[in-house]
Amino acid sequence: MVILMKIVMAFIASILIGNVENRRPTRNSKMWNTNLDDNYDYIVVGAGSAGAVVAARLSEDRKNRVLLLEAGGHYDENEDIHVPILWPTLMNTRQDWQYYTEPQTHSFQGLNDNRGFFPRGKVLGGTSCINAMQYTRGSPFDYDEWEAAGCYGWGYNDILKYFLRAENIDIDELRYSPYHSKGGPITNTYSYRTELSDIYLKAGQELGYPITDYNGEDQQGFSTIQKTIRNGVRSSTGLEYIGRAKYKDNLHVSLNSLATKIEIVHKRAVGVYFIKDGMTYYVKCNKEIILSGGSINSPQLLMLSGIGPRDHLTQLGIPVHADLPVGQNFQDHQLILLKTKINKPISINPGVLGDTFNQFMYRYFKTGPYSTSGGDASAFLHLDQSKVGTTYPDIQMIFQSSLIHANGINMKQEIADEVLESDPNAHGFTVAVCTTHPRSIGSITLRSTDPLEHPKIDPAFYTDERDLDTLVGGIRLFEQLIETNTFKELGANLDGNNYSFCSNYTFRSDDYWKCVIRHISITEYHHSSTCKMGARHNPMAVVDPQLRVIGINGLRVADASIFPNVTSGNTNIPAIMVGEKAADMIRKGTRGSFRRKGYRSRG
Ligand SMILES: Cc1cc2nc3c(=O)[nH]c(=O)nc-3n(C[C@H](O)[C@H](O)[C@H](O)COP(=O)(O)OP(=O)(O)OC[C@H]3O[C@@H](n4cnc5c(N)ncnc54)[C@H](O)[C@@H]3O)c2cc1C
Ligand SMILES: *[C@@H]1O[C@H](CO)[C@@H](O)[C@H](O)[C@H]1NC(C)=O
Ligand SMILES: *[C@@H]1O[C@H](CO)[C@@H](O)[C@H](O)[C@H]1NC(C)=O
Ligand SMILES: *[C@@H]1O[C@H](CO)[C@@H](O)[C@H](O)[C@H]1NC(C)=O
Repeated sequence: MVILMKIVMAFIASILIGNVENRRPTRNSKMWNTNLDDNYDYIVVGAGSAGAVVAARLSEDRKNRVLLLEAGGHYDENEDIHVPILWPTLMNTRQDWQYYTEPQTHSFQGLNDNRGFFPRGKVLGGTSCINAMQYTRGSPFDYDEWEAAGCYGWGYNDILKYFLRAENIDIDELRYSPYHSKGGPITNTYSYRTELSDIYLKAGQELGYPITDYNGEDQQGFSTIQKTIRNGVRSSTGLEYIGRAKYKDNLHVSLNSLATKIEIVHKRAVGVYFIKDGMTYYVKCNKEIILSGGSINSPQLLMLSGIGPRDHLTQLGIPVHADLPVGQNFQDHQLILLKTKINKPISINPGVLGDTFNQFMYRYFKTGPYSTSGGDASAFLHLDQSKVGTTYPDIQMIFQSSLIHANGINMKQEIADEVLESDPNAHGFTVAVCTTHPRSIGSITLRSTDPLEHPKIDPAFYTDERDLDTLVGGIRLFEQLIETNTFKELGANLDGNNYSFCSNYTFRSDDYWKCVIRHISITEYHHSSTCKMGARHNPMAVVDPQLRVIGINGLRVADASIFPNVTSGNTNIPAIMVGEKAADMIRKGTRGSFRRKGYRSRG
């Protein structure tokens, strides 16, 4: 009877709030049934967070004939992509590249073969289709540092407009903030929140931290998580920039098409080879090729095409067109999970998701626990309080309102037995403590010249021990939080993190936490910087501040691989910003010609 009343009320509410039909993702089928032409003005490789944006924006100029090549299929091949709470289940599916790192010595000691699992989206929309949907831009200090290092035009004041162009704010209290805007393709919302949401903020306040908009003036403080979700449906770049775009006959999208080589003649990129349904095709490019394959695939394709470190390419017998540090400078945030049970039934667990009422609410009204990523709050914190307001924070915390029930990170069985929660009805929360500016630098190199073979991924976590110290510092901040009255009332404590695999060390000592970090810390999935942007004379730079590959004409890179350093926090929105800015630079007529003189980079 109560349930029936809830349903009736929800139905009435949905009529008041909006049309149910409107909430479904739409599919424009015309674009991808086309026969391809043999040449295009622009060829974009990879329809991910950045690539989908580049292709959509370039095709807004009707005279541009644009081809978008994507290795994966359509996002509607897996309906779970659209359902926010199901994001962890998208790993190890057809829509995931399913990368594994090389065996590590300083990290991943609790994972099978010491290999980290690195999922990446392989689908129209790329990793924006499988990620955890936290909307984060990074710190203004990140971008000002880029500019100071020679990336002219990338200071925060220059790039803010691209964040705004991409955004559709759906948070009442931020609607009139100068840092947010309405009407862009990617919706930014709080979505459904559990009762824990305000409790996290209250605990932060108890320790004196401000409650803030981490995408506003300064990241520092505690915030409700902003999410890329529109009316309960994941707001991916595939759906919002390509799927919902008006039909344009000047944009062709070729799915299941793996680019295998960029053809370079006399230092100019002139076409792309790709494999589709077992057949190899070649398509010519009249103006520019934009590589947006992401931080693992973009360096792989560049190296396969003869752009990379000379010694490495020569060893594999690949003729060198440009000797550049491609694949070097790999950066990623490290993440350690801490968990606690709580004494109130207010988190999300398998029992809650099995509840037919919750399923009904999502199916018909796109509300309830299925409509959230499960993340409720995020904090950006300094280890040294005197640095507040002068630079980016050291630590990001993400408060996920659930325990960990499934082994999505390749843990050894005996380790998983201790880390995972086996009771589907247990209540608790998990905090992810993450670095924002890691010092350990890894690499991507080719395993072979076979484009179907995964490259070697060496994240090299904790080869610089300062990253370990930073994470221990972050754990110490969480230890303070757990002592607040707010958390004590909930029965929160650290006991669930006392693991036998580190029992040689005293529980909660520095050495204990370092042992746990070396065993079970993972990636925050923010691989970046493998085709670093920099001034042309910078020996680490692969692309210049117009994203042009140095020494090659007609070729740019636009994705998270160009970040000179990884940004503070999640990287989807920064990658989308790169896509917006790349398209804008191209449309404003900066030619792909690397040699062109006298061009000023600003604007
Ligand atoms: C599990 C997970 C959770 C995450 N959570 C968040 C989060 O909550 N918030 C956040 O901001 N970020 C998050 N991220 C990170 C974020 O999503 C990525 O940093 C971002 O999407 C990267 O964008 P990109 O454009 O660089 O690459 P991608 O989005 O990966 O796009 C690359 C595209 O190129 C295609 N491609 C690659 N090679 C080829 C080729 N040779 N030929 C044709 N196509 C090719 C790929 O299939 C893919 O579609 C998460 C990532 C993961 C994996
Ligand atoms: C990258 O980070 C390093 C180390 O903090 C810093 O010295 C450098 O200036 C940064 N470079 C850019 C381009 O942000
Ligand atoms: C942690 O676990 C060890 C055994 O592995 C035990 O001796 C110790 O008392 C535990 N500490 C706490 C605080 O629970
Ligand atoms: C504890 O230390 C001993 C002696 O160094 C070692 O043999 C053992 O494997 C260690 N145990 C764990 C769980 O690491």
